[in-house]
Order: sequence, then C-alpha cells, then structure tokens
Amino acid sequence: MRGWMGKFRSLFLFGALTLILSGCGVDNLSALKPKGYGAELLLDLMIISIAIMIFVFVIVMAIYAFVLIRYKQKKGQEHLIPKQTEGNKALEVIWTVIPIILLLVLAVPTVQATFDLADTSGQDDENAITIDVIGNQYWWHFNYAGQEIATSQELYIPTGERVYLNMKSSDVIHSFWLPSIAGKMDTNPGENINSMYLEAYEEGVYWGHCAELCGPSHSLMDFRVIAVSPDEFDQWVEDMKNVDPEATPETASAQEGQELFNNNCMSCHAIGGSSAGVGPNLTNFGNREKIAGIMDPSKENLVDWITNPDEIKPGNQMPANIVSKEEANKIADYLLQLKHSDVGTDVPTRNSDE
Ligand code: CUA
Repeated sequence: MRGWMGKFRSLFLFGALTLILSGCGVDNLSALKPKGYGAELLLDLMIISIAIMIFVFVIVMAIYAFVLIRYKQKKGQEHLIPKQTEGNKALEVIWTVIPIILLLVLAVPTVQATFDLADTSGQDDENAITIDVIGNQYWWHFNYAGQEIATSQELYIPTGERVYLNMKSSDVIHSFWLPSIAGKMDTNPGENINSMYLEAYEEGVYWGHCAELCGPSHSLMDFRVIAVSPDEFDQWVEDMKNVDPEATPETASAQEGQELFNNNCMSCHAIGGSSAGVGPNLTNFGNREKIAGIMDPSKENLVDWITNPDEIKPGNQMPANIVSKEEANKIADYLLQLKHSDVGTDVPTRNSDE
C-alpha cells in the first residue's frame, strides 16, 4: 500500500483483527462471561484494573492537551525561555501520593482474591467433594477421592457447591484452565500437588483447555466440565459405582469389539473403577461429548482415532495400527454403546459450539 493508504495500514490491520477476533468468543470458554465463583472474582479484578487504567489515561491526556494548547509558542517569543519551576514540592507530593492510592485500591482486592481462591481448607470437611486431577500428554484423568470412580476428559460436578481439585502431572507441566468457572492452575510432575476449587452457578457444559505448552498436541488438550444439579450428581456417582465392566453388549459386532478391546487395549485403558492407567478410563464413553477431547463422537471419527491416533494428536502415547480397520470398527461399536449414566446428557449447551 502506498500514499495515504500506507499511513493507515496498521490501523486497517488492527480494525480487521478486532472484527475477526471478536467472532472467537465462546460463551462457555470466556472469562468475560463468568458462570462460577472464581471467574466472577477474576472478572471483578479485571474491571477494577481497567477502570483505574482508563482513569489515569484520561487525566494524563487532559493535562497533556491543556499544556499543548495553553503553552504553545507564540509569534515573537521564539527565543523566550520560560520561567524555570523545578522543585515544586506540592506537585511532587501530588504525583507521588496519587499513584500510591491507585496501587492500594488495586492491591487490596487483588490480595483478598488471591487468598480467597487459594483457600482449599474446605476439603478437610468429610462431606466435601475432592477430585484428584492428573494431567497427561494430552488428556486429563479425574479420580473421585474415596468413591472408587474415575473419568477422563469430562469432569462431572454438582452446581452451587465447592468441588476441590488436587492436581499433578504424570509427565510434563500442564495447566488446568477453566475460564468461565475458575482461573487456571499448573499441574506439576512428581508429588508437588496444587489445589484449587470449582464452584459453578448454573448447569451446563463448560470448556477447558491446557494452558501450558506441553508438547506438539498442547493445543488439542481440551476437556469439559459438566455441571449438573446436586441430585443428578448423586445419581451419576451411583451409576458410575455400579458399572459392570464385563456387561455383554447387545449387538454381535459390539460383542466381538469387547473381546478385541479386552485383548488389545485393556493394558492401558480401564472401564469402571478408578484406576489411572497409561491411557484414559473409558467408563461411560458412549455419552462423551467429544472423542479424544476434540472430535465429534461419530463412529467414523472413532475408527480414525483408533487406527491412527498420531495423525489426530501428534506425539500422544497411543500406538497406531494395533488392530486392523475392520477390528477398529467393532471396537468402536463396543465403545460407543458404553452408556453407564444418562446424567448430564441433557444439560444446556451440551454438544453445542456456544
Ligand atoms: Cu498439556 Cu498443554
């Protein structure tokens, strides 16, 4: 771009980016539309900081404009040196005290919120729901402490209640980020446990991402949090406790798939129970919103995933071509009929891109 167009190039670019990026917002993945306690607290802090920044900007610009106009060089004064006024005590006190006050206004709620969000002492209560979270390349394991149940990728929680997460990683550092409900927390390898809590106000499916660069498929390490009413949550726990991993599927293909799965996949995966294997626990797999955290739950996608997982999530631990495509079809039939609990299948925003 030449001439006047060139001058405004960055302005055009900025305007276009604003327009394009404004379409990226997804309600249940937005820190600006909080649906939980932690997210609300964080949004309040953002609003206070932005308000202070705008206040400072407006005042500074106003003084700048005033000085620019009022003290403009006038004709005949080209060689005039203005009166020198360094060392004005009143002015120096004002511009030292005002920033201190602004910083205090920002610091008090920030420190309060930091302590509030870090307070996970409620998990010592015997009725508290605590979940052990393990980040893996590139999936999440959720183990319900004391309940002998576990899920992968989809975390079920009750609404209106604090749910405590104790988190670590099985390999590299990941970060559990659930913007519309709470903040984010790193998961570290070893026994260095980080804790946080979730408190969702409304039923819904909330989107989470890994927020720490953890390998080639970092950006594909998504998860879902499904918040249901406390009654439904109790029902879900009950359903999950009563899973029979040996239950015989209805169709012949799924029956063959079960045998193939038991022979080829069980050394890494589990159905029922709470074990944290090399691979995800696949209990209730047929009700998952996504396959591998990112694909729609169609049989075609599942067969693609089983036969060539590295193509879909590069660098993941699942080996390719363990079974033939025909066998993968049967395993898919088996896995997709694993529907151990209906709870959460009808919550708002399920299977939507909103
Ligand atoms: Cu795990 Cu990024």
